[in-house]
Amino acid sequence: MTTPLRLGIAGLGTVGVGVVKILQRHPDLILARAGRPVEISAVSARSKDKDRGVRLSDYAWEDNPVDLAKRDDVDVVVELIGGDEGPARELVENAIAAGKDVVTANKALLALHGQDLAETAEAQGHVIRFEAAVAGGIPVVKALTEGLAGNEITRVMGVMNGTCNYILTRMESAGLNYQEVFAEADALGYLEADPTLDVGGIDAAHKLALLASIAYGTKVNFAAMDIEGIERITIEDIQQAADMGYRIKLLGVAQRTGRGLESRMSPCLVPATSPLGQLENATNMVVLEGDAAGQIVLRGAGAGEGPTASAVMSDILDIARGTRVSTFGQPAASLMDVAGATVSAPAAFYLRMALVDKPGALAKIATVLGDAGISIDRMRQYGHQDLAAPVLIVTHKTTRDALNHALEGMESTSVLAGRPVAIRIEEV
Ligand code: HSE
Repeated sequence: MTTPLRLGIAGLGTVGVGVVKILQRHPDLILARAGRPVEISAVSARSKDKDRGVRLSDYAWEDNPVDLAKRDDVDVVVELIGGDEGPARELVENAIAAGKDVVTANKALLALHGQDLAETAEAQGHVIRFEAAVAGGIPVVKALTEGLAGNEITRVMGVMNGTCNYILTRMESAGLNYQEVFAEADALGYLEADPTLDVGGIDAAHKLALLASIAYGTKVNFAAMDIEGIERITIEDIQQAADMGYRIKLLGVAQRTGRGLESRMSPCLVPATSPLGQLENATNMVVLEGDAAGQIVLRGAGAGEGPTASAVMSDILDIARGTRVSTFGQPAASLMDVAGATVSAPAAFYLRMALVDKPGALAKIATVLGDAGISIDRMRQYGHQDLAAPVLIVTHKTTRDALNHALEGMESTSVLAGRPVAIRIEEV
């Protein structure tokens, strides 16, 4: 009989229960693929008595998740608690100290502490794997670390927060405003306990920071990311974008430029006919571009029991098979420090603003743009309201710096009725 791989699972929410169900449903398939049984020794969660719809009586129970790390009958700690501090961090640190391998779905923990955790684990010959932390069921970590290992990666893009994509696509299809759809997403249970993680772009930025590290061989640098959420996107923006052949997505982009590593998470206009433009509801999409492979598009469920548990299982199976890929695709100690790009690659921008309706207002805005070296591609005044005139401007390619300079200049013209919205038009 071959030696089983023994798991300690911490966190029995949606994902933890999903992992237990797969292990109970497919023992033969897992044995055949891994060449050894994969068993659960012990589990831990907040409430022992809660009915989770799955049989747990065969497993030892630990009230304190950290105690899983101390058990001799646990080879791999599976951390599905979540959160960048508290019990999740304590468990992972203890697991590494106790010489266990770790599988986690925790993007926040790794985006903030992944470098130190991976270096410590790898120094002792152990691995931390995190397929489930990025884009749920989409095997994007494997795609980058393994499938595209022979490529220089030129760009990583992704819609990696299903809640935001749900909100943006639902606003468009139902003609509803942001607040109405936010309330719907809340009722559907889509929002994180702290919704800012979703709509503020932070959850998606955690994921992009991890992918950028693998793609470019750089230390995870969440602090260097440029992050903007979807809170200021209106139904008008969505409808005007649609009218021009675009859709608005919360899009992450990481690319090396002559100015450093550019990594940003922000609402962007993308062509409605592109794969990213056609992404509906809570689905995720990651686009990877390699110098040899060209463009690879991966699409699938970014959250939920089955998809996320599927990703956790892929890491567990790797460890069971003896496949020990470094956390970020190369030894953590060899990852480079990288400066965040000070200037992003030039792009066209969509600008929406309301102007006070008096002679010369539009001319002043056009002058400010001209003075900042920004050329206007298209312009439209629409749906005239009492004292304010809504105006849309699409610029030719310009830099974010020039645009910021122009936006500052606009503030001092006294013709603005409210703060303008600027959305990058991404070439995808
Ligand atoms: N809140 C996340 C999302 C869940 O909406 O995609 C997965 O991280």
